[in-house]
Amino acid sequence: MEALHLFTVLISSILPLLPFLQISLAAHIDTITLIQSLTDDGNKITLISQSQTFELGFFSPGNSTNRYIGIWYKRKPETVVWVANRNSPLIDSNGELTIREENLVLLNHTRGIVWSSNISSGVAKSPVALLLDSGNLVLQEQESTDHNVYLWQSFDYPTDTLLLGMKLGWDLSTGFDGYLTSWKSADDPSIGDVTYRMRTISGLSQTVLTVGLTRKFRSGIWNGIRYSGLVILRDYQELSIKAFKYFNVFNEKQAYQMLQTVDNSVVSILNLNQSGFVQHLNLRNDSSEWAVMYTLPNDQKCDSYNYCGANAICTSTKYPVLCECLKGFTPRSQEEWIGLTWSKGCERKIPLDCRKGEGFVKVAEVKLPDLLEFSSNKSMSLKECEQGCLNNCSCKAYANSDVTNGGSGCLMWFGDLIDIRDVNVKGSEQDLYIRLSASEIKSIHDSDKRKKLYIILSASLTSGTCLCGVALWCLIWNLKKGKSNDEDIDLPTFDLATIITATNNFSPSNLVGAGGFGPVYKGKLSTGQDIAVKRLSKSSTQGLKEFKNEVELIAKLQHRNLVALLGCCIQREEKILIYEYMPNKSLDHYIFDGKRSTTLPWEKHFDIIRGIARGLLYLHQDSKLQIVHRDLKASNILLDNNLNPKISDFGLARTFNDDEKEAITRRIVGTYGYISPEYAIDGKFSVKSDVFSFGVLLLETLSGKKNRSFNHPDHHHNLLGHAWLLWNEDKALDLMDAYFNDSYVESQVLRCIQVGLLCVQKFAHDRPTMSSIVFMLENEGAILPQPKQPGFFVERSSSDEGSTSLVHQVSHSENVVTVTMPYGR
Ligand SMILES: *[C@@H]1O[C@H](CO)[C@@H](O)[C@H](O)[C@H]1NC(C)=O
Ligand SMILES: *[C@@H]1O[C@H](CO)[C@@H](O)[C@H](O)[C@H]1NC(C)=O
Ligand SMILES: *[C@@H]1O[C@H](CO)[C@@H](O)[C@H](O)[C@H]1NC(C)=O
Ligand SMILES: *[C@@H]1O[C@H](CO)[C@@H](O)[C@H](O)[C@H]1NC(C)=O
Ligand SMILES: *[C@@H]1O[C@H](CO)[C@@H](O)[C@H](O)[C@H]1NC(C)=O
Ligand SMILES: *[C@@H]1O[C@H](CO)[C@@H](O)[C@H](O)[C@H]1NC(C)=O
Ligand SMILES: *[C@@H]1O[C@H](CO)[C@@H](O)[C@H](O)[C@H]1NC(C)=O
Ligand SMILES: *[C@@H]1O[C@H](CO)[C@@H](O)[C@H](O)[C@H]1NC(C)=O
Ligand SMILES: *[C@@H]1O[C@H](CO)[C@@H](O)[C@H](O)[C@H]1NC(C)=O
Ligand SMILES: *[C@@H]1O[C@H](CO)[C@@H](O)[C@H](O)[C@H]1NC(C)=O
Repeated sequence: MEALHLFTVLISSILPLLPFLQISLAAHIDTITLIQSLTDDGNKITLISQSQTFELGFFSPGNSTNRYIGIWYKRKPETVVWVANRNSPLIDSNGELTIREENLVLLNHTRGIVWSSNISSGVAKSPVALLLDSGNLVLQEQESTDHNVYLWQSFDYPTDTLLLGMKLGWDLSTGFDGYLTSWKSADDPSIGDVTYRMRTISGLSQTVLTVGLTRKFRSGIWNGIRYSGLVILRDYQELSIKAFKYFNVFNEKQAYQMLQTVDNSVVSILNLNQSGFVQHLNLRNDSSEWAVMYTLPNDQKCDSYNYCGANAICTSTKYPVLCECLKGFTPRSQEEWIGLTWSKGCERKIPLDCRKGEGFVKVAEVKLPDLLEFSSNKSMSLKECEQGCLNNCSCKAYANSDVTNGGSGCLMWFGDLIDIRDVNVKGSEQDLYIRLSASEIKSIHDSDKRKKLYIILSASLTSGTCLCGVALWCLIWNLKKGKSNDEDIDLPTFDLATIITATNNFSPSNLVGAGGFGPVYKGKLSTGQDIAVKRLSKSSTQGLKEFKNEVELIAKLQHRNLVALLGCCIQREEKILIYEYMPNKSLDHYIFDGKRSTTLPWEKHFDIIRGIARGLLYLHQDSKLQIVHRDLKASNILLDNNLNPKISDFGLARTFNDDEKEAITRRIVGTYGYISPEYAIDGKFSVKSDVFSFGVLLLETLSGKKNRSFNHPDHHHNLLGHAWLLWNEDKALDLMDAYFNDSYVESQVLRCIQVGLLCVQKFAHDRPTMSSIVFMLENEGAILPQPKQPGFFVERSSSDEGSTSLVHQVSHSENVVTVTMPYGR
């Protein structure tokens, strides 16, 4: 409560009306005693705090004609931050705020008390009311020598706004319990059904946002450093944005948070609005509009209370498959889970039976589950906590309750684990330990052992020593034994009957396309969720197990520029993949001649190009596997609702053709026009063949022409040749589609063309990697190498000999075709 010594109150208003109020303006301690009244008779008399920050008076919110006593910022925008009689409005302008029987009271025109500060009688002698510069309306003894002692203060009765210095929380010693409640509507400040409140049980505190009786968001438990789930505040901390800070106090007697600024040029408030959001608003001293610093819940999905249902974790970066079951758990409803709704949560694969061998698996850096069925003990260590949890058969998980100084305290959960999300604060040590059955623990140990063995083996091989044969044999034998229950697939699996229903028995009318490996159908689950169903051709010789492994790996590839695999179905002869459904079409519908139905500005094109590059970079480098797409083309780039590009069909090329060297010669997958020379001619593929295809795609996007159907009156070069010629003649911008009407950013376009030409260079080793491409596209200042002649830089009359077989396969078909070599399916 610093800064309160600045208290003082002035009265604003038109001078002739002053007689209503008794004012004493002594040298520096200015005090107004409301011995008579502040009336609402159209004279607009208000109280104003000394430095002119806050104003108190009668007002009518929105379109209402009711009258209320409120406090608002005197400067624009005149935001009301507190209302006295919010639940008992005056219906006319005959109200009067005055002091009566030692209380501050609001009277109606029959002089009935409508609102009162309600302090017990006999406490105060001759109180005065002051509006402080903090926005706090206080009642104080006139004669009081200690100006920080209040008989009553509005800060103890927050409405929907938390001002600087106001506490959100509770204090046992004073009986204070302050929390925010929303207005009913913009016209009605009475108590709405949204509250934001500090909740403390067994000494553990968190703030909780509720709508009616339902929890909508919680901050996560205060862990000594932060609220374990307030990810956004951590971000601000890391960005060292110093405009505001929170002051937190937690002990046996009190628990609260308080907003502070570090800089007087900014005013900060927290406001709870009636649609159920807490907004942190800032107002700079030179602005007349509030700026939203953040809102809570911040993330509409992972921050939403219990978004994933019980025993699941929400990971905001894994869009759109945000929810995953905790280790050892499986979705209660597979269908719902695949439909990306999740509310039913997860259940154990193997029930706990409390036998010997049960143990724990760590889930690192999470917002701890809500405090529903739990117990805590502040003096136990993590080790004791583990033992304690193990000894109680109904204990499902445990964690440290305080992470400061290496962690202390013990929290145990007994029921379902609710509302867990990732927080990804490195070193936050906010880890959760989940109890698993003996067999799950054993399989985890075995896979760890296997990893260790590989390390030992490779270490011993490289160091030239060899393990004793017997020991080695023993180890391997042990591992084989432990491997048996390793089979279950983590990806949601789906019943064939459901797929058949969803696609109307693979009805031709549901067919939306045909990818390289089979037809794609649109389907609708009974939950209403749209899905894309890819039915893989049956001729694949790949074993079931390998297929499962591959698919599971692909399912782990999650990136905003890749189409998400939601599940699979392996039943009878069928191998089916279920993807998220993308309602907007593929990129080719937007870029090629005559198909530009919608107006997309250059910026959107540039975004799409960069998005594809990032997706491809992820496939090539960032994912656990190194995936060569091998069939990158405009029709494999799908667009979501906001026209963000998503690469589809990735991974399958690898799935189907990976191991056999023969694949290189026997079955070339890819699409005419996008295939790199070395792939077309020698059947060699690498990440650089994808780079080539990316280059073609990029140049096509700019020019609006397909490489294949490209015709120029002056020469017989294909699109790549044409681009190369223009580049050398310093007329690169001529490549741009007339569609753009010259409204594009020249430097960006030139950079794109140069990158495109670098990608389609003849020799694979000259082509940049995707990581340099992303860098070159993202950085205005990047210095780009000069491109060399593209592959296929030949006039069309002189056919490239090596690729004849390829060309013969497809050259008579008009449309883009997926090239299928003689051994195709
Ligand atoms: C007041 O009424 C007008 C006209 O009906 C409406 O447009 C406006 O949104 C209302 N304002 C509030 C705060 O309800
Ligand atoms: C004035 O307030 C008193 C007490 O709340 C109430 O009984 C009375 O009906 C009110 N009169 C009017 C006109 O609102
Ligand atoms: C004042 O206290 C009485 C009894 O404790 C309560 O009924 C009344 O609602 C209170 N009034 C206000 C304005 O808080
Ligand atoms: C805003 O605050 C800054 C820092 O306190 C001060 O330098 C500046 O003069 C203020 N501007 C206005 C318009 O008050
Ligand atoms: C409440 O805040 C949210 C988040 O900023 C905003 O989207 C919404 O429009 C606000 N609702 C009202 C009624 O102001
Ligand atoms: C907390 O744990 C300690 C050590 O195990 C024990 O001595 C103490 O009684 C426990 N406190 C409570 C309240 O259970
Ligand atoms: C396990 O913990 C729960 C909750 O604290 C308690 O009710 C129960 O008695 C404990 N069971 C055993 C066997 O200690
Ligand atoms: C994308 O699809 C959505 C849903 O079908 C549609 O509303 C939107 O207009 C489409 N956007 C474009 C640019 O076609
Ligand atoms: C482009 O078109 C030419 C001729 O139409 C063809 O030879 C070539 O393979 C196509 N693809 C690339 C990447 O140049
Ligand atoms: C260019 O102009 C044409 C005709 O005015 C219009 O149809 C097209 O959408 C414009 N292109 C862009 C990118 O704005």
